[in-house]
Amino acid sequence: MEHEAEFLLEYNQKVELINEWLENVVPQAEGDCIALYKALRYSLFAGGKRIRPVIAMAVCEMLGGDVEQVMPFACAIELIHTYSLIHDDLPAMDNDDLRRGQPTCHKKFDEATAILVGDALQALAFEIMSRSEINPIIVLECIRTVATAAGGDGMVGGQIRDIGGCEDAELHNKMNNLKTGALIMASAWMGALVGKAAIEDYRPIGIYAQSLGIAFQVKDDILDVEGNAEKLGKKTGQDSVTDKITYVSHMGLDRAKDYLLELTDNCKDEIAIFGEKSFFLQDLATYLYERDN
Ligand code: IPE
Ligand code: IPE
Ligand code: MG
Ligand code: MG
Ligand code: MG
Repeated sequence: MEHEAEFLLEYNQKVELINEWLENVVPQAEGDCIALYKALRYSLFAGGKRIRPVIAMAVCEMLGGDVEQVMPFACAIELIHTYSLIHDDLPAMDNDDLRRGQPTCHKKFDEATAILVGDALQALAFEIMSRSEINPIIVLECIRTVATAAGGDGMVGGQIRDIGGCEDAELHNKMNNLKTGALIMASAWMGALVGKAAIEDYRPIGIYAQSLGIAFQVKDDILDVEGNAEKLGKKTGQDSVTDKITYVSHMGLDRAKDYLLELTDNCKDEIAIFGEKSFFLQDLATYLYERDN
């Protein structure tokens, strides 16, 4: 990556701001609901990469928007994402023991708590967005964006298709567009909405986010095969244990890697239309391409 030091500095600053905001919007683990918030905070502050909120912030800033205004929406998407991971790890789903470098929520606590933490995270996401004091029309658009991306026409729709397994290449891509792409796309969309994107800005931002979403899952599937569990903070080889149809099982490791490169180049080409303001988003695509966690 060309401007790696600057990129990492900016990325880390964004993550810090997200964590500060999350710290303030999430209830403390005290009082009579301590069991819920203790487990919720355990999963939320275990050190996720915060990619989705970073995308929302970066798109907003690229368009000259005020980053403070996008923060409630950036936090909301991270809450939804964390809930999706907690439920994804449950025995009824992927049955994973390790997440973000520590025992999964249901292993550390119990299944009922993990289910309820997911439910509470999802509700909290909508509450936080509804408290934003920016133009209510934009707030409403953001709420609808997250609702669609999280539900049956989004992440949950992708998860149920993943459980069924998609042999057909087109359906497999569709499943990943929903399962992983939808929340990434929603992040970019909210950055665009709060950053007051012009009509013609939506197309390149949309193509960037869609390619990035697929690239993200292709890389996730590659890392499950050849990644390092310690660095990843989750067990590797799980997709073959659970007989998952992944990009690797579908196309083989080499073709999956070629596809990842193609998608990453596509992201960068699309967003480059915004000139040097898009450097961070271009570098983010490279960073995610090269990531080992
Ligand atoms: C993992 O997401 C699940 C997928 C959608 C592939 P991340 O890799 O963003 O997980 P965290 O948030 O960094 O833990
Ligand atoms: C999970 O995909 C996607 C969502 C949680 C919506 P995976 O099942 O591949 O994610 P990991 O590998 O467990 O992080
Ligand atoms: Mg899964
Ligand atoms: Mg999983
Ligand atoms: Mg995976």
